Order: sequence, then structure tokens, then C-alpha cells
Amino acid sequence: MLPQKIYTSRILILDFGSQYTQLLARCIRGIGVYCKLLAWHASEKEIREFNPNGIILSGGPESSISHNSPRVVNYIFHAGVPILGICYGMQVMAVQLGGTVQSSNKREFGSAQITVTKNSPLLPPIFHNTNTDKKIVMDVWMSHSDHVSQIPSDFIAIAHTEKCPVVIMTNETKRFYGVQFHPEVTHTPQGLSLIKQFVQIICQCKALWTTKNIIDDIIKDIKNQIATERVMLGLSGGVDSLVTALLLHHAIGDRLICIFIDNGLLRLGEANHLTTMFSNCFSLNIIHIKAEKRFLDALIGVQEPEAKRKTIGRVFIEIFEEEAVRIGNVQWLAQGTIYSDVIESGITSTSQTHIIKSHHNVGGLPKKMRLKLLEPLKTLFKDEVREIGLKLGLSNSILYQHPFPGPGLSIRVLGEVKKEYCDLLRSADSILIEELHKANLYKKINQAFTVFLPIRSVSVIGDNRKYDWVIAIRAVETTDFMTAQWTNLPHEFLRTVSNRIINEIHSISRVVYDISSKPPATIEWE
Ligand code: XMP
Repeated sequence: MLPQKIYTSRILILDFGSQYTQLLARCIRGIGVYCKLLAWHASEKEIREFNPNGIILSGGPESSISHNSPRVVNYIFHAGVPILGICYGMQVMAVQLGGTVQSSNKREFGSAQITVTKNSPLLPPIFHNTNTDKKIVMDVWMSHSDHVSQIPSDFIAIAHTEKCPVVIMTNETKRFYGVQFHPEVTHTPQGLSLIKQFVQIICQCKALWTTKNIIDDIIKDIKNQIATERVMLGLSGGVDSLVTALLLHHAIGDRLICIFIDNGLLRLGEANHLTTMFSNCFSLNIIHIKAEKRFLDALIGVQEPEAKRKTIGRVFIEIFEEEAVRIGNVQWLAQGTIYSDVIESGITSTSQTHIIKSHHNVGGLPKKMRLKLLEPLKTLFKDEVREIGLKLGLSNSILYQHPFPGPGLSIRVLGEVKKEYCDLLRSADSILIEELHKANLYKKINQAFTVFLPIRSVSVIGDNRKYDWVIAIRAVETTDFMTAQWTNLPHEFLRTVSNRIINEIHSISRVVYDISSKPPATIEWE
């Protein structure tokens, strides 16, 4: 059921749970080809329905030798489309097609040089480097302990390393390929070219997945779906909801009604800045609801982080419902759900993800509201959303802002949330962010914020002894927000921020810096 033009060339990735699977999907999208992730146990029916031009079997953490390790449905080997197996994906292909995999104590992890003994359409045209023995070599990134020891009878091995006898295996007639290394990571310099060879040359996919085509397609789709009806959208100020708003506005104009709920848990000046800018510059129809008191009242006595999230979610829904009734004649609710939210909520993945914090309400909001759900970004990755935002006129400062959690400052004020604490935290946070911009550090880190600790500590200012609150600074570097390193911010910078916070905010006596990485510590404190 994918009639549109931009979807006509498409690759299916069957995911065995590798940490690089989303990266792989991004590589393919970056080449201009649509791809979708399904869990490794996808059924023949699902695969037939998607009707891919080629299939990639991802890497994964399991050993294909162990009892009950994952296998793909045999149908894919008879579907008549090219297949590329990567790492575990190659091993599983070997085993299912009659070869053997062996465990070895010679693990290969990190950079390696492979020797190529025969050419193949899979190999990029520029791969011909030679080493001192005049052998053709290629630098790659390996991460495995098992290896294919015997290839299926109709395959040939065309590359090896000293430790691994089969690094690339091919069956050119069937267009089946296996690579033991990871072409999707940048440490394999010719990896992207290899993926291009597979997608464009072997699978014959066309580069239709471009930002302009995606925008045109989404707008056309929204127009068809919505016809003359009206849509409500909760505008949070984050990139995803803003891009959703702009696309909808292009498609249906004023029949989009944006609801911006100021819950009193936003950053300094955020609510006014956003609502003014989006109604003035983008002519969006925005209803600005000031609901600080309602949220803070609902949070009285609520200490536990998950309970805070649930309370805030509940009040949001209540306000939405009231607005829907008040506005009347609204049939749709739009949400800025993106592809990573869908994957992380376990809908497509191997469902091994454990819910540590109840983050994203994928499909959660509208149940009670009996509105139809519209999620125009749900096949897109974050960087695709940013590219669309850029084309539609959003500034880099909005597109590349650090993420801000839905429950806002409520999970950065530890324990019970009070207006006084939120106000102090807002001031501290704005100092930190201002200084990060001044020092040209904002773009170099992925997320930075302050946390309010409801404990008192002693300070002496002049001759006066004070007994005041503590602020923690958190700054992390991360690619996927699933793991993160604390940032080694310059001491001079920390000194400036700490001095400013203590001098400019009277009830703060002390500033501390969080030096915990994730895991085990999460990025937010709650
Ligand atoms: P953690 O704290 O789980 O955060 O390491 C990872 C990323 O998710 C953000 N985060 C949230 N975002 N609702 C959100 O919309 C939430 O409840 C929530 N909790 C954490 C966090 O800011 C970081 O970017």
C-alpha cells in the first residue's frame, strides 16, 4: 500500500538489533532511497506487502551458533531480490543457505585491512588500493568473534583477513552478498560507496527520496487525507512539532489550529518568543493557553518522576479535550512523531528496548478524544526533519536547539515542583545557555541544562551567612541519546557560569557539575 512515487524504490532492513541499524537506514536515505526497518522475525506477508527492491540483514548482538538464535523467514531467499547480509546478517545467511559459522578466540574488533581476491559489482569503483605485496586491500571496521568457516556451495569468497577466512562472500547469479565488516560506520571509509553499489547498481533503486520530493509528497498526502476538515496540533516548541505545523500550514492553511500550552515548566521567555515568532513570521493560527497554575496545582505533593510525567500528560490531555470542544468542528489531531520514536517505542523493532522512562506518547494522546491521528513525519529521521525545516524557512538556532523534554522543568526540579524553584532554575539555565553560545560551545555539545536540587547549603556573602539552594550543571555529548559522555567543559567556562549563577541569582549558594555518563546515569536527573 505504498503508491506514491518517492516510495517506488525501496529497501527493507531486517533488524537483528545491531547498534548501527539506524545508522544504516540513514545511509540509505542519504543516498536518496526510501528504506524501512522491520524486526528480523518479519513474516513473509509483511515482506511481500512492502515489496522491496532489495533486502539488507543487519548485524546483531547474538551468536548464530547458539541454540535458538534469530533466523529470517526463508521466503527472502526465494523472493528474487538482492540481499546484503552485514556481520550477523552475513552469518545467518550463510547458515540458512547451507554454510557453517564458527566461533573463534581470534576476535576482530576495530579497524582491519581486508585483502580482496576477486572483483564484484558490490565493490565501489575506487576500492583498488594495493598494499606492499601488491595485493588489493580495503580498510574496514570489524566487530565480531564468530565467522563464516564454510560458505554455502553456490557462493564464492572474495575477501579475507589474516584472522577471518571469509570477509566477503557473493553469489552473483542470485545477487546475494555477505560482508563481515560494517560498511555503515564512517570507520569503513568506502562503506557508504559499497552501500551505494548495492542499493543503486545491484538493486537498481532510483534516488527519489529528496527533501523537495518528501515535502511535496507529504503536503499532497495531507491534502488528500484531510480534504476540508480541521486539524489540531499541540505545538511544543521542539523541531518536530514546528516542522509538522509548517507542513500542515502549507497543505491546509488556517484549517490548522495550533495549541500552545504554557505549562509554566518552559525555559525563560520561551512561550512569548515562540508564539510571537510563529504567528508573525509564519502566520500560524496559534491559540496560546496560559496554564501554569493548573499544572503546578496538579503537581502539588507529587514527588516521584514517573508520577510527575503522568500528571503532566493527564493535564495536557484535559486541556486538549477542553479546547477541542471549545473550538468545535475538529476532526484530526496532528503529532510530530518521527521514525525514531516509532522504532524506540518497539513498534517495528525487535522489542528488546526496555522502557526506562515513559518518554514519548506514540499514539497515546488521542484515544479518549476520538480524533483521527495524523503523523506526517512518522517515516522520517531527525536529520530529514531538520532538512525539511530548513527548506521551509526555520532558522538554524531552532533546528539545532538542544532537546527539551516534554515534561519540561518538572523533571529538572528534583522532587516536588514549585513555582519558586522553576523560576530559579529558569534563570540559572538561561545563564548557562547564554555562556555556551558566547564561548562557541553550544553547537559542540548535544545537550546542556541546569538542575535544581532542593537541598540547602551554606555560603558566606560579605559578612552574611546564607543557607540556600544548589544548582547542578549537566552537559553531555552523544549521537543517539541512548548512551552519553559527560562533556569535559573548560574549567574557565565552568568558573564563569558558576560565578554568574551565584552572583546573579540570590537564592543559590552553590553550583556543582555532573560528571556521570550514561549508562548508568540517565541524561536527565529524573
Ligand atoms: P534520559 O534522561 O532518558 O534522556 O537519558 C534521553 C533524552 O530524552 C529526553 N527525555 C525526555 N523527552 N519526555 C521527553 O519528551 C520525557 O519524559 C523525557 N525524559 C528524558 C532527555 O532530555 C534526553 O534528550
